[in-house]
Amino acid sequence: MSFDLVIIGGTGDLAWRKLMPALFQAFRHGKLPEGGRILAVSRQDLSDAGYRGWVKERFQEVEGAKRPSDDEFARFAGLLHYLRLDLSRPADYAQIRSWLAARPGGAADVVVMYLATSPDLFPTVCAQLGAAGLNSDNIRVVLEKPLGRDLASAQEINRVVRSVFREEQAFRIDHYLGKPSVQNLMALRFGNALFEPLWRRESIANIQITLAESIGVGTRGDFYSRTGALRDMIQNHALQLLTMVAMEPPSRNDADAIRDEKLKVLRSLKPFSEDSVVRDVVRGQYRAGSVEGSRVAGYFEEDEVPAESRTETFVALRTEVRNWRWASVPFYLRTGKRLAARDAQIVVNFRPTPHSIFPGVNQPNKLVIKLQPEDGLELHLLAAKGTGQSEALSSVSLDLDFDKAFAENRVGAYERLLLDVIAGRLNLFVRSDEQEEAWRWVEPILDAWQADDTGPRPYMAGTWGPAAASALVARDGCAWSEEQ
Ligand code: BG6
Repeated sequence: MSFDLVIIGGTGDLAWRKLMPALFQAFRHGKLPEGGRILAVSRQDLSDAGYRGWVKERFQEVEGAKRPSDDEFARFAGLLHYLRLDLSRPADYAQIRSWLAARPGGAADVVVMYLATSPDLFPTVCAQLGAAGLNSDNIRVVLEKPLGRDLASAQEINRVVRSVFREEQAFRIDHYLGKPSVQNLMALRFGNALFEPLWRRESIANIQITLAESIGVGTRGDFYSRTGALRDMIQNHALQLLTMVAMEPPSRNDADAIRDEKLKVLRSLKPFSEDSVVRDVVRGQYRAGSVEGSRVAGYFEEDEVPAESRTETFVALRTEVRNWRWASVPFYLRTGKRLAARDAQIVVNFRPTPHSIFPGVNQPNKLVIKLQPEDGLELHLLAAKGTGQSEALSSVSLDLDFDKAFAENRVGAYERLLLDVIAGRLNLFVRSDEQEEAWRWVEPILDAWQADDTGPRPYMAGTWGPAAASALVARDGCAWSEEQ
């Protein structure tokens, strides 16, 4: 199967930080279908050779083992092409069409239009692609987050996309869905009989999803101050993980069967009111502190952050999935920048045994699905220590390290998702109705914050966020996993 991949915004941050390294890895692993071409499109004045040189230079910043040798790069570079054009000029889109048509051996089986531009340009670019006839059935369009900044803007983007492409042609990326541990969650739940009978309110006390980052806003101060953690991480990544944990078994392993179930979860989320935002949502903003042994600046000292910014860099919240399986089980979501560690995990806290025959010991089981830095599973159990005292129980964990177990075949999130787009597999992409439902759910939080002058609570960099986040779970008699 031949393909042409057009990266619109081919010299941007996303292209060199994520897409090029992922494409190179797919190439190195021999997974890119033969006969593919990659066309970068941007405003800069570059030739094919100039673009290849630019990518090669950028690859010097890629971490050790993932960096190509000169020989590997020379072979990969053969796939790369460049076209200069101005996205605001309708006439320029015809150049893409001519380039695609001038393919040696005839048109590609699949053409992927990857919109790696600022999302403000999505409606214009989609409309122009349509006007240039670049929306035929073999064309797929990839849209990167953030898709809108509220429900109305997301609906507007979707309206334009739908006026040009069919839903099956639209691949909305949430790169968390490409992480191996998230796919493993599907395998864990629906490939094994062991957990499913326990995966419900009768056995589970609460579920915690933590997406903690140790980095700050870095060079993205301007973007971040207009976005915030709720839009940047909760509306998409955290909610997508929640749907994967909470959904009913889909009837088939196909995109719409899965996405129908995820949508049902989003529709069952307990809606926020002004009062419940105050009670169940904590927002924070980091101040200078120390992360992993180094002094780091506070949010206000970061480049391009406006002095009066009330943007949150941390969110913790409590919600519920209102259906028979999950009624009254708390789901806690938490994310933040400049926290104590880079640590993304889903913790499923089981209920204690109904009656303990070991005096003073009743530590509930816990399943930890680790997304990063390691990718693995830990099942915490109680076991006898064998010290001769029957009550001397101790917590032990069954620890599966998937990075080790499957070392040879592991692929990164972007690599996996790019290969899925080329192959036309929509399972790990977000459908427009899911995405809109997620906005519908977060919007009352955005509105309540807008109307509330208190602003985010400060927290010191290198901690786990404001103390109010611990109080949020303590109210239910729970604790975050690092406090357990
Ligand atoms: C992006 C956010 O979607 O995800 C960033 O915009 C964040 O702010 C990043 O740093 C985190 O991704 P990962 O894969 O490094 O956890």
